[in-house]
Amino acid sequence: MSKGDSIAASPLWAKPGAAIAADAMAFMSRDDVLLDRELFPFDILATRAHVKGLASIRLIEEADASRINTALVELDRLFASGAFVLDERYEDGHSAIESFLVDKLGEAGKRVHLGRSRNDQVAVALRLYMKAVLDHARTSCVAIGRAALAVARTHEMDAMPGYTHLQRAVPSTVGLWMGSFAEGFADVAELCALTRSWLDASPLGTAAGYGVNLPLARQSVSDELQFSRLQVNPMAAQASRGRLEHQVVATLWQAMQEVRRLAWDFSLFSAEEFAFVTLGPGFVTGSSIMPNKKNPDMVELLRASAAVVGGAMTEIQQAMSLPSGYHRDLQITKPSLLRAVNVSLEALSHIPSLIETATLHTDRMRAAMDSAMFATDFAVKLAGEGVPFRDAYVRAAQAIEEMDDDVCDADASVRARVSPGACGNLMLDVIAARLG
Ligand code: ARG
Repeated sequence: MSKGDSIAASPLWAKPGAAIAADAMAFMSRDDVLLDRELFPFDILATRAHVKGLASIRLIEEADASRINTALVELDRLFASGAFVLDERYEDGHSAIESFLVDKLGEAGKRVHLGRSRNDQVAVALRLYMKAVLDHARTSCVAIGRAALAVARTHEMDAMPGYTHLQRAVPSTVGLWMGSFAEGFADVAELCALTRSWLDASPLGTAAGYGVNLPLARQSVSDELQFSRLQVNPMAAQASRGRLEHQVVATLWQAMQEVRRLAWDFSLFSAEEFAFVTLGPGFVTGSSIMPNKKNPDMVELLRASAAVVGGAMTEIQQAMSLPSGYHRDLQITKPSLLRAVNVSLEALSHIPSLIETATLHTDRMRAAMDSAMFATDFAVKLAGEGVPFRDAYVRAAQAIEEMDDDVCDADASVRARVSPGACGNLMLDVIAARLG
């Protein structure tokens, strides 16, 4: 269609006098209707619950409700199989559902939108989608945590340098290093559950943001959709749009921060200068010119994925500057959410095997330790014998050059690090219990 043509398919809001150019319609809807493909099954599910709710208060005949329900089950199946295509013929997924019902059922199909608006319709579909995403992300984080824990247990007391500022600091262990990812991902798994419970409230039945003049069965519709509570206030429900999305993306960003840290460590430690780690063959690529190269492209792109998620989070923040009530601006948070979700879930899915297929070179790790790294142990030991710590610190600093062998024993050093959580007392069972 060229600029200025009128729209081919009628939108839901078609009425005498409504006219909009096709290119303007495309500007508003093109990406949106395609993105709605990801929300479509949730929209169908919520529509089924809405119709059941209308039937329960006799605003729709049982027979019609049952025909609509059957048609919606069929639509779900047709969509999943690819036989029903959601595309630019429709303004959005919501319109496609109604159009399908009207085509199939005529009069009965036209009854479906009583008591709701696309504003609560999109809100409920998004919340169902976000709950599913958080469940998925949580499961992935647990799987990663367990993979890291398994390596931590296998190499529990294998010594390696501990770094601060990327400078050698104190003796550490693989158990401590990998255990840090086990606990980090356990923390994010818990955050996924917290965020899920934060948004686990049904907005359906709040309509355009002001309720309707009907005694809608909001609670039973909410129960039907397995929400744990109602989002009571219709204006609050609209005001949550975008902000819930932001919190979900922020949660995913936390997961991606752990991914980024792991990817960084693996790319650094797989450099020949360290050679602590050899990445699994599925995680390295070759060079087009340098036959000798094995490049860690996979971990680099996993690392960069965190930036995509951070960018999406910023996009949503930028859209969040609106007065009360629905505004079409809110639609712009949808691509950011979906992009962040898809990038994060895909990245997370690769991490267990990244961890499991990496080979750790504990001989290289041990060889990278020098006597200066035992200075802190020595100072703490002197202080334990009664020397004030600051004096012990100075004596240890002076003794670095002539530190003797029984002080510079990596195994003894890490075994003696018994402060709870440290190398000699990793408390891996506590972390394991959180990973279920
Ligand atoms: N695509 C729209 C969105 O994401 C659906 C809601 C449209 N509502 C409206 N009043 N135009 O926000």
